[in-house]
Amino acid sequence: MDIKKLLSEMTLAEKLGQLTQLNAVFFNAENDADITGPAAKLHIGEDDISLTGSVLNFTSAALMKKTQDAAMARQPHHIPLLFMQDVIHGFRTVYPIPLAMGCSFDETLVEDCARMAAKEAAVSGVHVTFSPMMDLARDARWGRVMESPGEDPTLNGRVGAAFVRGYQGDGTDPYDIPACVKHFAAYGAPEAGRDYAPVELSEHTLREYYLPAYRACVDAGVKMIMPAFNTIGGVPCTANRHLLDTILRREWGFKGVVISDYHAHHEMVKHGVAENDKEAVALAVNAGCDIEMMSTATYRFAKELLDEGRITMEQIDAATLRVLELKNQLGLFENPYRVASEKEEKRLHLCPEHRALARRAAEESAVLLKNDGVLPFSKALRKVAVIGPFAKEQGIKGNWAGNGRDEDCVTVLAGVRTLLPDAEVATTRGCSWELGETKVPDLEEAVELASEADAVVLCLGEYQHHSGEGNSRATLTLSPAQMTLARAVLDANKNTAVVLFNGRPLVIPELSAIAPAILDMWQPGTEGGNAAARLLFGDANPCGKLSMSFPYHEGQCPIYYSHLHTGRPVANPKEITQTGYCSRYMDVPVDPLYVFGHGLSYNTYTYDNLTLSADVIHPGEELEVAVTVKNEGKRYGKETVQLYIRDKVASVARPVKELKDFVKLELEAGESAAVIFTITEEDLRFHTVSGAFDSEAGEFEVMVGKSSDELLAATFRLEK
Ligand code: BGC
Repeated sequence: MDIKKLLSEMTLAEKLGQLTQLNAVFFNAENDADITGPAAKLHIGEDDISLTGSVLNFTSAALMKKTQDAAMARQPHHIPLLFMQDVIHGFRTVYPIPLAMGCSFDETLVEDCARMAAKEAAVSGVHVTFSPMMDLARDARWGRVMESPGEDPTLNGRVGAAFVRGYQGDGTDPYDIPACVKHFAAYGAPEAGRDYAPVELSEHTLREYYLPAYRACVDAGVKMIMPAFNTIGGVPCTANRHLLDTILRREWGFKGVVISDYHAHHEMVKHGVAENDKEAVALAVNAGCDIEMMSTATYRFAKELLDEGRITMEQIDAATLRVLELKNQLGLFENPYRVASEKEEKRLHLCPEHRALARRAAEESAVLLKNDGVLPFSKALRKVAVIGPFAKEQGIKGNWAGNGRDEDCVTVLAGVRTLLPDAEVATTRGCSWELGETKVPDLEEAVELASEADAVVLCLGEYQHHSGEGNSRATLTLSPAQMTLARAVLDANKNTAVVLFNGRPLVIPELSAIAPAILDMWQPGTEGGNAAARLLFGDANPCGKLSMSFPYHEGQCPIYYSHLHTGRPVANPKEITQTGYCSRYMDVPVDPLYVFGHGLSYNTYTYDNLTLSADVIHPGEELEVAVTVKNEGKRYGKETVQLYIRDKVASVARPVKELKDFVKLELEAGESAAVIFTITEEDLRFHTVSGAFDSEAGEFEVMVGKSSDELLAATFRLEK
């Protein structure tokens, strides 16, 4: 399609239609749109809908095709609609939440899962996904940490790029779906962890820590980007010219489409930076926002703004062209359905291959937080009790689960019963998962089952809709009821493993002290129960490593391993420091309960012989950092070897350590392997006191190990 020619033939209203995205509810081809209800409230008339260029949240091939036909018939140039949806961690087959996927430290796995999601979504008519989310997640009170790979810029960037590769492929396969990186920028740092709250950070912090993961996705070729809801320094991201124009378009060379978040134009009125919707459009267009999601202010007010000379026709044309270009790249002008097909939906959704991948992802992203030796349980056990509010709960797929359904999910109880067909597996819920619950109606039964069992699987945690958008929490503890249940069950049977379900790090110091083993499954998706059972009974070996720290207490949030040192660091951040004018809490340690990078296995891996190929490097040279890792255990396993760097003295204070590289090794029992990382001067660059992105000569510490806390260390110098 010659889209420039098409553009030249389009009316202004048609162009503005392409810059508008509405929810599926307005396109219900079956009842011909509900214009009197929500549409009227949003000032949306039938004409607006007939010219609208894209739509979000459609869910099936059949409906998509019908809607596409109707839309193309009404659109004067028969321009096809673009269908978008939040395909965040799977479509019908759901794999673990992105925070869990971060814990896999496995880019190939992430890419494979994203590919699977793209295929399932594409056959249901989805053209673009609103994923990946690259907001650095350092405050577990914020409910949306579940959508982020975690707290580290390097890990997030690598996971983000893998998501983009998986969704988008090389753009030639009909199952490829463009990705939309979000929420640009720093949405993960809202004040006090409260969703949508203002973000305050310096240009240095923004550029050094918060922007790199979005940048990694742009470098991976992501086709779309979504500005965040929040303000930074009082400026809503939708109106932030510095972000959307200076940094994104000019510095990073982004050529794709910018789409606002849901209703974000109107929210600028609520923020108090625009007097009305018309002013909001002027701000958004001049900042560089192309599509307006879920409101029609651009459609309604752009003409007046053009007449007043406050926005230009060049801006409208350039934005429209970007949208048409995306449609053209997708081949929609030739085939407006792409691969949408009911037959393909039946073939692909929840197919055995996809379920197997989802199960493997759940196994590889689970983190064994603690194990005093009770795990793995023997498969020869005769009597097992599966207890707790998540024992037979199917709501474990996680929030933002696309078209995933609870009824497709395998519970822990079902997983254990399948794995141990000859064992007697008893169960009781104990109590509900409601926040703040105090009553434990099945306490007696739970204690009885626990005391009679050879082993107990105690399933506790946070319900799937207690994290995600709008679900910030000020307390991150388990409810009093869950803790009463835990104490009683652990008292009744010491051969108990706790299995946690959660969309964020929780505050569990007491549980951690009294439970002999804790396996964190996060929100594991469709195959969660099978994965949990295989991990608990040793058919799979845990290998996930935390991508986000578990605080001792909510008062520590935000908490992350790569903090600055301060001028008065405590001598021992792992203990409560009793006295002194130092950077401490009087009631909890400074360090988290479980650190970034932590995660146990049924094997022990030893690290030895950290050696550097040189003591000094210069720009253009490579420094090899070698270490030997040995599997001292009796099983095959995977171990994520992590490399951190500390710049000892610089023109600005640098983090105590920063992850620079990692590799996930596969090791047979008794096997050892040499791992060699390469460091160059480019890896040592940062935003210096002058604002330049550069390295500074001096001494660096390089650390390699199994977590951000258990590391071998050596030093080298950079000379320039
Ligand atoms: C969320 C976005 C999402 C959009 C569309 C918004 O509320 O912030 O992450 O992509 O809705 O569903």
